[in-house]
Amino acid sequence: MTERGMRTSCGALRAGDEGRTVELDGWVNRRRDHGGLIFVDLRDWEGVTQIVFAPEQDHFATAERLRHEDVIRVCGTVRRRPDGTQNPRLGTGDVEVGVARLEVLNRSEVPPFQVNADDAVDENLRLEYRYLDLRRPRMQRNLRMRHRIVKAIRDFFDAREFVEIETPMLIKSTPEGARDYLVPSRMHPGSFYALPQSPQMLKQILMVAGFGRYLQIARCMRDEDLRADRQPEFTQVDVEMSFVTQDEVLETMESCMRAVWKAALDVDLPPFPRLTYDEALRRYGSDKPDLRFGLELADVGHAFAASEFAVFASTLARGGEILALRYPGGAALSRRDFDALTELAKTHGAQGMVWIARAASGTKSSAAKFLSADEIAAVCDGAAAAEGDAVLLFAGDRAAVRATAGRMRLEVGDRCNLRDPAKFAFGWVLDFPYLDLDEATGKPAPAHHAFSAPVDDHWELIERDPMAVRAQHYDMVLNGYELGSGSIRIHRPDQQRKIFEMLGLDDAEIEARFGFFIRALGYGAPPHGGMALGIDRIAMLACGEDSIREVIAFPKNQVARDVMMDAPSGVPDELLHDLNLRTTLPGPHGR
Ligand code: AMO
Repeated sequence: MTERGMRTSCGALRAGDEGRTVELDGWVNRRRDHGGLIFVDLRDWEGVTQIVFAPEQDHFATAERLRHEDVIRVCGTVRRRPDGTQNPRLGTGDVEVGVARLEVLNRSEVPPFQVNADDAVDENLRLEYRYLDLRRPRMQRNLRMRHRIVKAIRDFFDAREFVEIETPMLIKSTPEGARDYLVPSRMHPGSFYALPQSPQMLKQILMVAGFGRYLQIARCMRDEDLRADRQPEFTQVDVEMSFVTQDEVLETMESCMRAVWKAALDVDLPPFPRLTYDEALRRYGSDKPDLRFGLELADVGHAFAASEFAVFASTLARGGEILALRYPGGAALSRRDFDALTELAKTHGAQGMVWIARAASGTKSSAAKFLSADEIAAVCDGAAAAEGDAVLLFAGDRAAVRATAGRMRLEVGDRCNLRDPAKFAFGWVLDFPYLDLDEATGKPAPAHHAFSAPVDDHWELIERDPMAVRAQHYDMVLNGYELGSGSIRIHRPDQQRKIFEMLGLDDAEIEARFGFFIRALGYGAPPHGGMALGIDRIAMLACGEDSIREVIAFPKNQVARDVMMDAPSGVPDELLHDLNLRTTLPGPHGR
């Protein structure tokens, strides 16, 4: 065999290399036996090269036994492929290598799914054999794209003189609204570290410590229910800056995303539109609006001021809203289609749905008996519905009806192909309320976290009307996803204490959970603010995927299991003993 170190990548060879002797190694991507010759597509991480074995050679019998995913090394001569057999889809498609020597470096078992194509495969099987799944073209593409994104992020912040600082994994609880993952301490029986839900308090302490521009590509762990855009562990671009205004943070993060999209996708992003939280809910029914398309919700309550339709009249009497959503081309839908749409709206929380179809043959409606011609005309006008369109109407209490109509807007957007994954509509949502009602407990909880500063003149509302307090909190959104959140922080210890008190913590709890932090603020904490963006979500959207599992090398499955390693799993009793732990469950421990 040729000396090591002369390896040519499987993506490198071109017509100009004709006549060269090369050594290639890689995996058998495909094998075809043709007219006495054996053709193998040899694959490595850079591409695929066709290699050819001729029957008169010693190794021909070995080549006949090559199977998919065997690992081989070959030495041979580059030659042009005969006319008509070139493959224009491959960079190396003009050439092939006539093999002189073959070495089988390792055999492969028969893979449980096809590695050389991106055909659909059950996700749990993909995750169990992730090393094979990661060899497939799509995952190779995605993880390389993720690398480019993270590199562009680091380059951007480096050029602006940010310092990347690692913060520890074994810490005290950092509340971000999820449950903590806990790690029992062997040396301190009965005590637990918490894994960071984010580096929030530590990055603020780094501001106290005089690192005025902080960055970290930070791992975070949260024990929460999983969704396509949520994993128990994920990665943030975590940023904090001293002596900054909200606008400076927004400019920094927006410029970063512009640099990333340019570097990774060669896309020039326009300036990000800014919406207030109230505006986002009013116009799009969501605090993470998909701005790729219009179809804004129209409040058409005024059209029904004197309505005899009991549902609408009572909604308005209660102070609720009647929202109209245009469905482009929706007049072509059948009654059955509208019934199905109504059922769908109910799954999104609607109590019912009224539709109006403006067909050329006349206007039809599910509530024709109750709505006057003037009311229908006013609704169509309000929703900007033209002939051929339909209008969907939702009535209810403000927050609920906006949420329902917002989800139906996305549904109509999907049906009308307005949510193109190749389009990127970034935006900012500003002026969030400080508190909202926690979905699980129904109690007020910080909409972001307890370290955000209220807007300046809202401190006096804290005791009088806490739900009315607004925070200096901002979100970046992209295509209907929340990409990141941040805020200008509280930097005075008395004010931080006041917020904890507003959240119902007593002095003992404040001391036990946040004493160290309030003390740090007391030693000259500078005014500061920052933000964290989810890298998994950024990579997912940049790759055109709809789950962050597609851009994470070893994600957990939908029920938070690592099915390749089989984690979580039981541990030997001795380990539990060392940790002073005993489980009360029959469970798998001791396996
Ligand atoms: P927040 O909790 O909003 O803010 O998180 C910031 C961003 O991190 C991503 N993210 C997640 N991604 C995947 N899986 C999850 N389970 C998950 N949870 C969050 C999202 C989200 O927008 N410390 C604050 C930031 C700050 O104030 O500076 C924080 O963590 O993209």
